[in-house]
Amino acid sequence: PFYMIKEINEVPQIIYNTTNYYSKNKVLENIPKGFWKGISRIKLIACGTSYHACLIGEHLLSEIGYDTTSYIASEFIYSDPIIDKNTLCVFVSQSGETADTLSAINIAKQKGAKTIGITNVLTSTITKICDYILPIKCGAEIAVASTKAYNGQLTVFYILSKYLSNNIKNYKKVLNDLKKLNKIIDIKNIEEQIKPLVKAVLDSNTVFMVGRQTDYVTSLESSLKLKEITYINCQGYASGELKHGTISLVDNNTLVFAYITNKKLANKTINVVKQTQSRGAKLCVVSPFDDILTDTTINYKIKLPSCPEYLYPLIAVLPMQLLSYHTSVTLGYNPDKPRNLAKSITVE
Ligand code: AGP
Repeated sequence: PFYMIKEINEVPQIIYNTTNYYSKNKVLENIPKGFWKGISRIKLIACGTSYHACLIGEHLLSEIGYDTTSYIASEFIYSDPIIDKNTLCVFVSQSGETADTLSAINIAKQKGAKTIGITNVLTSTITKICDYILPIKCGAEIAVASTKAYNGQLTVFYILSKYLSNNIKNYKKVLNDLKKLNKIIDIKNIEEQIKPLVKAVLDSNTVFMVGRQTDYVTSLESSLKLKEITYINCQGYASGELKHGTISLVDNNTLVFAYITNKKLANKTINVVKQTQSRGAKLCVVSPFDDILTDTTINYKIKLPSCPEYLYPLIAVLPMQLLSYHTSVTLGYNPDKPRNLAKSITVE
């Protein structure tokens, strides 16, 4: 009935298609080796959902030893960033036409940076001004709220980070792991799990999405999805930061989504969200870990399918993409065309 639900259902296939495209066409291998030489720092720049993809990219590139920082493009423009010829600037834009991001590219080029564009539209402006383009093979994304393009952007960051790790075994492994997700992700199963939560969202006054590290990024992207197509005010928050003030908002009309896909950090996040429960909040845990989900005090549970732990950011966002869509439709809105929003923001 709407493009958005079609595009969410395409996520498993676009992860496969993008991965297959990179392995078949040797996209990264065809960039001259000299381009990657001497890179001492990496800056990732974008807006909105694409900025959230950068935050995952920042984790992945930092893990392999690159000094990596993400910037909101409209902030980057006015921040007088430290850039030289050994700086790689990666710009992420589904449309390739976002004015703030295009302005940021021009500033980076003036300062002598190497530039890469990650985009879904190969005829767009970004492809004409960056040194190299890393395409995401999603097909046209029509709904204003970006879903499959986000998963496509993450896919490219996974491939790029393993390529730059200069470990051919890791590179081959990530290509295999990504392709297998097509068989692991079951959209219908997640959709069945989230449907009871539409009422929980509509019955609450305040909604928080919380997590640590990449689960914090999933919280930010999940919050943007719910906001932009249901107009329900909600916040993505670092779970460890709630106690520094914001937890005062929590009461018995609050609904908290806790994202727990990092085994090492699971207990830390659970302890924090328990504090919200003791203040009356209802708690939904989104996790693949049965030992976390068997906790009987949790009000709602969303079980993610098992996959290599490092790939969970590709999956953990699916529940809120689907829940936002179903909540929007329940409210009688058009999820493809949210009020006050356009698909590409071509003005600063
Ligand atoms: C995504 O759901 C939003 N509609 C919006 O934040 C979007 O991600 C942002 O405007 C950036 O667009 P771009 O990727 O085309 O540059």
